[in-house]
Amino acid sequence: MRTIAFYSPKGGVGKTAAAVNIAYLASQSQCKTLLWDLDPQGAASFYLAGAEMVKGKKLSKLLEGKSPIAKFIHEDVYPNLDFIPAHSSFRNFDIKLEHEAGNDMLRQMLAPLSEDTSLVVLDCPPTLSRLTEQVLELADAVYVPLVPTWLSLNSWIQLRDFAKDKKLGVKKLKPFFSMADRRKRLHREVIASPEDYLDQPLDIIIPYASVVERMGEEGLPLEVLAPRSVAAASFRQMWARIKQQLWKR
Ligand SMILES: Nc1ncnc2c1ncn2[C@@H]1O[C@H](COP(=O)(O)OP(=O)(O)OP(=O)(O)O)[C@@H](O)[C@H]1O
Ligand SMILES: [Mg+2]
Repeated sequence: MRTIAFYSPKGGVGKTAAAVNIAYLASQSQCKTLLWDLDPQGAASFYLAGAEMVKGKKLSKLLEGKSPIAKFIHEDVYPNLDFIPAHSSFRNFDIKLEHEAGNDMLRQMLAPLSEDTSLVVLDCPPTLSRLTEQVLELADAVYVPLVPTWLSLNSWIQLRDFAKDKKLGVKKLKPFFSMADRRKRLHREVIASPEDYLDQPLDIIIPYASVVERMGEEGLPLEVLAPRSVAAASFRQMWARIKQQLWKR
């Protein structure tokens, strides 16, 4: 089982859109996938509403170890795609983690899934917290959307330094351009020479596209909503890259 996360301390940069699209593409490629919406706001649920999403359950029983994680899973919202929806009680996740010794509560929760699940996709809230630390610790790779602007690059540097300080493995952080709008000069400039600002090449570029915004309205992953769109093709490329990175093939 591999675990990936979509995370940025910045809000509204395309984490959830990417998490849902990548989880869906993974499930379509015969990879048994679990998408876990860790954001109490529950945006991922909107993108999957077409799968007749039901409400998430309170997390307290899972946190207390009284219920196994399997009870929280909605199986096969699409074939091969399981989903744990968010619940407002996820806000307490951090408080609970503060009081827990060790840094592997999330890992323990996920452990029972390892036999049936090939890929876990974590959609994270835009906060730097104990939960984030555990996610950064646990994930095999963390995909970080960067809108191609200076501000966004700044927050990338902060995240990288945070990961360095906490010894969470900087290499697993994988930035990608998100909401890239070639009509904007600044976006074009930043995309043209990312190595001037980042210490690694960035060849995954998700374009700004109104069809991605429509995912929320329609409650569908992009591959279902508009498979012929440029944005859908970009997510397919991204999934191919993620597969290579995770399984080295
Ligand atoms: N590539 C894109 N092109 C156009 N709009 C996009 C794109 N990606 C995301 N959006 C829109 O931008 C908004 C924020 O996207 P999303 O929810 O994926 O971001 P997020 O980083 O998960 O936000 P949050 O930090 O609040 O969790 C949504 O309305 C979404 O539809
Ligand atoms: Mg989100």
